[in-house]
Amino acid sequence: MIIGILGGGQLARMLALAGHPLGLQFIMLDPSEDACAGVVADQIQGRYNDIAKLELLAQKADVVTYEFENIPAAAVEFLAKKVPVYPPLLALTTAQDRLYEKKLFRKLDICTPAFVPINNLEELQRALKEISYPAILKTRTQGYDGKGQAILRRNADLTTAWEHLNGVPAIVEDFIPFDREISIIAARNHSGEIKCYPVTENVHHAGILHFSKALKNDSAQHQAADYVKRLLNHLDYVGIITLELFQVGDQLLANEFAPRVHNSGHWTQNGAIIDQFENHLRAILDLPLGSTDSSDYAAMINLISTVPSREKILQQTHANLHLYGKEERTGRKLGHINICTSDEATFNKEIGALQNIVNSG
Ligand SMILES: Nc1ncnc2c1ncn2[C@@H]1O[C@H](COP(=O)(O)OP(=O)(O)O)[C@@H](O)[C@H]1O
Ligand SMILES: [Mg+2]
Repeated sequence: MIIGILGGGQLARMLALAGHPLGLQFIMLDPSEDACAGVVADQIQGRYNDIAKLELLAQKADVVTYEFENIPAAAVEFLAKKVPVYPPLLALTTAQDRLYEKKLFRKLDICTPAFVPINNLEELQRALKEISYPAILKTRTQGYDGKGQAILRRNADLTTAWEHLNGVPAIVEDFIPFDREISIIAARNHSGEIKCYPVTENVHHAGILHFSKALKNDSAQHQAADYVKRLLNHLDYVGIITLELFQVGDQLLANEFAPRVHNSGHWTQNGAIIDQFENHLRAILDLPLGSTDSSDYAAMINLISTVPSREKILQQTHANLHLYGKEERTGRKLGHINICTSDEATFNKEIGALQNIVNSG
């Protein structure tokens, strides 16, 4: 059985690593010469809108999935006529546009921050009478890792922010002074079986995820699981989905969803019985989903821009190091460390030590 993947970055690499023990093979389509999934999957080098390359992928793969949501929807539409593609096209096109995404949340009675769609500077100025400062302006499409966003604190910020985002269609939303940011990752297979992982608390700096911690038996689990199930069933979803939420008191507000495996679920590689990557593969192959039960304490630290010494990291005896084989570059995700244990004191001690190592480069 051969799985095709659109994209050959670290998520494709970890999907392939999870699939090899199940006897699966992988082929990915990626434009770059040194796609980091290349060591564990065959590569078709080419652009996502290259019909001949897509044709070749469809020929070689039994089922196709994707590792990021900024691939052209037309590529998925083309492939879907020739080979099964999961998650479904509607999930992709909705997640690609923040306006469609927020409207879907509202339709499903999933609470969101207040938002207004914007097509020009006048509309932005008018919206800031409805939405109060501070607010956040986001391009409707193509944003990731905090890119395509600007914070608005006063009227004087509007022109600069609008120009900074190149005047493309956008939404403006309330800036939420959240108590914490959480995400929930869930899997659904063809038969409609759903499994949710424990919610994860996420810490971002400048829009980039730095740290995630699994929250076992957390009070937000029930509401978060209810929200994500509404999405999964409405979209007749197949695969792993990630729903990002802001928590204010005991209220949850949906920020966005990703139709794919997610950085905030990397801890599941060592902290859950079956990880997000394997459950994604099981879902798209209509295999039974595996247990999402987790260790008592599980967390992940991202390695961004530089990779500290391997020796130092591995001195922490619970550290599981996952490197992506990518060259160092500012702001680039290069790997992560998982720490999973049943002992709280060990957990806190090792996380503290690892954070010191990571912060000192
Ligand atoms: N309305 C908001 N209020 C407060 N913080 C926000 C808001 N929107 C985004 N952020 C912060 O910026 C991060 C990135 O924004 P997000 O909408 O998730 O875009 P993306 O992950 O696609 O770059 C969020 O994880 C959060 O930390
Ligand atoms: Mg996000």
